[in-house]
Amino acid sequence: MLGSVILLWVCIFLLFFLIQTRRPKKFPPGPQPLPIFGSLLQLNLENPMPDLERLSEKYGQVFSLYFGGRPAVILSGTAAIKEALVTKGVDFGGRPFGLLLNHLTHGKGVIMADYGPSWREHRRFALMTLKNFGLGKRSMEERILEETSYVSAYLEANAGKTIDPQTLFHNASCDIICSILFGSRYEYEHEFFQTMIKMMAENSKIANGPWGMVYDTMPLLRNLPLPFQRALRDYNTVKMYASGIVDEHRATRVPGEPRDVIDCYLDEMEKRGENCALFDDSQMLVLLLDLLFAGTDTTSNTIRYTVLCLMAYPEIQERCQQEIDSVLKGKMQASFEDRHKMPYTQAVIHESQRMSSTLPLSVFHCTTRDTELMGYHIPKGTLIIPNLSSVLYEEDKWKFPHEFNPANFLNEQGQLKKPEAFMPFSVGPRTCLGEGLARMELFLILVTLLRRFQFIWPEDVGEPDFSPVFGVTQAPRPYRMTVKLR
Ligand code: HEM
Ligand SMILES: *[C@@H]1O[C@H](CO)[C@@H](O)[C@H](O)[C@H]1NC(C)=O
Ligand SMILES: *[C@@H]1O[C@H](CO)[C@@H](O)[C@H](O)[C@H]1NC(C)=O
Repeated sequence: MLGSVILLWVCIFLLFFLIQTRRPKKFPPGPQPLPIFGSLLQLNLENPMPDLERLSEKYGQVFSLYFGGRPAVILSGTAAIKEALVTKGVDFGGRPFGLLLNHLTHGKGVIMADYGPSWREHRRFALMTLKNFGLGKRSMEERILEETSYVSAYLEANAGKTIDPQTLFHNASCDIICSILFGSRYEYEHEFFQTMIKMMAENSKIANGPWGMVYDTMPLLRNLPLPFQRALRDYNTVKMYASGIVDEHRATRVPGEPRDVIDCYLDEMEKRGENCALFDDSQMLVLLLDLLFAGTDTTSNTIRYTVLCLMAYPEIQERCQQEIDSVLKGKMQASFEDRHKMPYTQAVIHESQRMSSTLPLSVFHCTTRDTELMGYHIPKGTLIIPNLSSVLYEEDKWKFPHEFNPANFLNEQGQLKKPEAFMPFSVGPRTCLGEGLARMELFLILVTLLRRFQFIWPEDVGEPDFSPVFGVTQAPRPYRMTVKLR
């Protein structure tokens, strides 16, 4: 008797979930989801890429998966991604809610803010401020070159040695953002700097890994003492610290003469007056942390990948150096303007960005209303995952889709050309707002270092390994390099 009651309940329970995860009409195809888990058990969560590749080969440019009961649509290829993110940019311009990252930011700031006035105004503010002279007297270039001088000094001190450059590049790109946000760089040993670096590393590990998935798909488990609790705590520690820096700025600022993003934000709050609900301290703090998060790993992983390529192809490294030497002859330091005279070096940087595909699945989007894509119906609130790698390696879009070759970005006259499938920063209204800054950093840092140093793959460690470590940001495996003064 009891047995059959239990059985009945189990059946009702399963039926309930089956109904819940039934595909809507004209929804993109995909594997049949299981109750509760959706498609999760059909994927290897440690490295879902091979499974997903199989699915996208089977189901095509637009297919669907279920994260628990939540439907997600995965877009591959230039055609689908452009139609969604550019042509229907507003329909596809939202962000998902209810994920770990949302609980950190409460929908404030820019990255995880949903499509709407607060996101739009903060995005516009950030874009204006990150322009070269948006920050007052000290230009972006100056800040980047200052940080690069510390990198150079470190490499010079290690000339002739073999080192792992991971934390060096990571610290440098974090410090450039610090200089832009807080007005000054930090010594790498500074307590706040260390906390911040640690928090970012831990949090991206948690958000990337199985625990992030558990948090996102099974709300019932959120209050248990699992690793994501630490992510929340660490995030708040850094936020508290940043809040202290904001207080200092309030006390020392000269209105209208901003030193950094905080001063600009305080000016903006004054300009907008008391009754502006959109700009306040809590929004500012999330914006600051957004820029820190978005600008650190992405840039440093790209630099690390570029240096790896330059060691794997020493003849390409040498050709860059010749171009750099001849353009910078007699000059103290590089400037961003010099890029126009360095098509080859630019092509190498673009090609590294293409091959490294630093944010392979971009940042997840969400539909803001019921919409259509390539004949499929996609309801409001559907999670949208644009597969940027699929575009960066797309077969008929590149001369050499699967090999590292700067010719992908050069025309017959040796001038730089950018194919439409070059979208490591994504496309449309949500496209990376730090692209200008990132470009400037990649160019100035790499040119400055290549002018002074030669990077050599050590003899005793086998061949360079290009296979990435999978994560939200895709990174090259740790490696060691030999540094030689030129
Ligand atoms: C090589 C370095 C970088 C790469 C490859 C990169 C790539 C991306 C990508 C793919 C997105 C998602 C766009 C979308 O949702 O469709 C994004 C968003 C964003 N990035 Fe970057 N990024 C880089 C550097 C930076 C830097 C240096 C900053 C600023 C300090 C930055 C700030 C942001 C912000 C704030 C967003 C969210 C934009 C929004 O939601 O409206 N990024 N980035
Ligand atoms: C994205 O595209 C790449 C390259 O085509 C593929 O290897 C990967 O599995 C795809 N990922 C998803 C989630 O579809
Ligand atoms: C980068 O910063 C971390 C944390 O502050 C520090 O432990 C590490 O030694 C730094 N790396 C370099 C190369 O200076």
